Amino acid sequence: MNYSRIIGTGSYLPDKVLTNQDLEKMVDTTDQWIRERTGINKRHIAAENETTCDLAEHASRKAMEAAGKSPADIDLIVLATTTPDQVFPSTACLLQSRLDIHGSPAFDVQAVCTGFIYAMGVADNFIRAGSAKCALVVGAETFSRIINWKDRDTCVLFGDGAGAVVLEASDEPGILSTHLHADGDYASLLQVPDGVSRGYEKVRDNAAFVEMRGNEVFKMAVNTLGRIVDETLEKNGLEKADIDWLIPHQANIRIINATARKLGMSMDHVVVTVHDHGNTSAASVPLAFDVAVREGRIKRGETLLMEAFGGGFTWGSVLVKY
Ligand code: COA
Repeated sequence: MNYSRIIGTGSYLPDKVLTNQDLEKMVDTTDQWIRERTGINKRHIAAENETTCDLAEHASRKAMEAAGKSPADIDLIVLATTTPDQVFPSTACLLQSRLDIHGSPAFDVQAVCTGFIYAMGVADNFIRAGSAKCALVVGAETFSRIINWKDRDTCVLFGDGAGAVVLEASDEPGILSTHLHADGDYASLLQVPDGVSRGYEKVRDNAAFVEMRGNEVFKMAVNTLGRIVDETLEKNGLEKADIDWLIPHQANIRIINATARKLGMSMDHVVVTVHDHGNTSAASVPLAFDVAVREGRIKRGETLLMEAFGGGFTWGSVLVKY
């Protein structure tokens, strides 16, 4: 068993929809500005009593159903989130209990918008090493909870949601390679400055919310994602034309367009959900993936490139023979 294969996908979006028109009433912005600069029309927002684990549970149940797997089959849970329900237990452990799975390792990974890519890298290595046979890999966020809804620079960009996949050990490919990177020197460009150990509301006002130097993040994201595409193709001895589908992190349509141009791909082979979901951080790639799978666009045997960039900075990719 040399590979891990994706055998099921699922996703979930909270019921409440926040449109650009709604945001026009909250901050000094316009629908036109948001659409032209980001591609976003609307995003989903968790209800007051709805948590990251709630979203993760819905997505996970759908992925397990699609995979034809019962709780007893799952022997690893890796959950990517920046917005856990509690300090501890991890959201992965809370999810494990909800799903009636017992005894398997379950833990969170935190790589902000690259979280799902990191979680796939970790789970793939567990499976390749023979330490797990059937992994539930989840990206779930209630990012709305760390947004300053008075800050027009950030509040128009993000949304809530969850996506999940089930990975199974297989002799057939499978995940071909994963590529994970980070450079902690860029924390000041994209961060939530407060936290558990520094304390909340002690750093300065509004420090419990996302702060971003959008323009600089934009340039870094475009350059870094270009490089990760090159690295992934080179490692696998592939040409640009060998990639059937690009499943990018859904942060901004202009960043997605730039990566597609780099790959020479027409946009009808790029999965785009940013207009409907906004940036759901760790949930964005598995959400987009599940949408395209369930619409029947992505077919078995096709070669998929997933990539993401996020706070840290972190960035990475997963190349998949689906
Ligand atoms: N509505 C209206 N105007 C806004 C606005 C909003 N929501 N947000 C910012 N502006 C204004 C700015 O104040 C600025 O005004 P000024 O020219 O008078 O100073 C103007 O729009 C242009 O701002 P700028 O930041 O240069 O715009 P931009 O083209 O870089 O687009 C982002 C802004 C945030 C959309 C873009 O930089 C971006 O997407 N960055 C990456 C963000 C990201 O992906 N983060 C997550 C990474 S995982």
